[in-house]
Amino acid sequence: GKGQYDHFMLKEIHTQPTSLRKTIEGRVDLDSGSTDLDIESDLSEVETVHLVGCGTSYHAALFAACLLNRCGLSARAIRASEYDLTAGTPSNNTLFVAVTQSGETADTLSALRRANDVGLDTLAVTNVVQSTVAREADEPLYIRAGPEIGVAATKTFSSQAAMLTLLSQHLARVNQYASRVNNIEALLSDLTDLPDAVEGVLQSSNATRLAEKYLDENAYFFIGRGLGCSVAKEGALKFKEITYEHAEGFASGELKHGPLALVTDRTPVFAVCADDSSKTVTNAKEAQTRGAPIIAVSTSDHSIVDTADDHLSIPDMHPVCSNLLANVQLQLLSYYCATELGRAIDKPRNLAKSVTVE
Ligand code: F6R
Repeated sequence: GKGQYDHFMLKEIHTQPTSLRKTIEGRVDLDSGSTDLDIESDLSEVETVHLVGCGTSYHAALFAACLLNRCGLSARAIRASEYDLTAGTPSNNTLFVAVTQSGETADTLSALRRANDVGLDTLAVTNVVQSTVAREADEPLYIRAGPEIGVAATKTFSSQAAMLTLLSQHLARVNQYASRVNNIEALLSDLTDLPDAVEGVLQSSNATRLAEKYLDENAYFFIGRGLGCSVAKEGALKFKEITYEHAEGFASGELKHGPLALVTDRTPVFAVCADDSSKTVTNAKEAQTRGAPIIAVSTSDHSIVDTADDHLSIPDMHPVCSNLLANVQLQLLSYYCATELGRAIDKPRNLAKSVTVE
């Protein structure tokens, strides 16, 4: 049941310290500074990684592709529905990673079958044990987030991102093409601290107050760079799904290439500054000059806080973790905006938990 919570979504947001602990449990060896993922496939010669999913799972794929690229590996996030037209002819050394909470999404399954047909190594990062995608991939990597009832994916995004982070560090260690400059120890150490940090954000968040303040606007923009770009996209998807308000998420730098035409004093801009973010500050200020309220999602001592109209605070951690914490703040924001508007939060109109048609 929902227990003390009004909705499954809120319960699942608050479950994240526990669900993240389960994702990570037994998979990190801090003493040796390495991952222990129990992967049988030999990934030492993988040259390219295709991360494929839909919706929120696609955003987790984007997050992971960014991280893998920073480890010196060539990685692409590809929308499952576009895989047939955009993947080209993958080389034999391509690893295909299906990212899907349910393991039953038709678009993702169809892309996986295509990858299997051309003989790629395939992994499934999924929540549902023995789901179709889990069975049809060479190996499943279970995120162990527990059942997710709310249609809007929350705890499973965090767990997918954490699982894919572990996979990226596994690849960085075993793969001959990966760069050795990646500081695995610091990342893994922060990742094991992430569940407690999520707890802290859940307890201290002022998202309720901001939801009341920014309730009646024309559109909501979410911007970020790198890992923060995937969080901005995910923040906007969650927002539109459950509030039914128009929201867009994109790379900070894109604001000036078109969306700025839509910016007014009725279009709040949420700026995710949890990574290399000085350019995001500049981009946010461009929107502010046109009257838009800026809500910084950043550490309290970040330079954007001086100019921002409001602030959602996150602790200073490795960018993988601080971006996931920014995402938690945005989950709360969406949830409280949707409750203020009286929306059907656990079952938003026109949406299904698992989409089994292409
Ligand atoms: C968003 C959401 C959807 C799913 C998408 C993929 O909150 O729930 O966008 O993420 O339909 O579903 P899975 O991950 O089951 O493949």
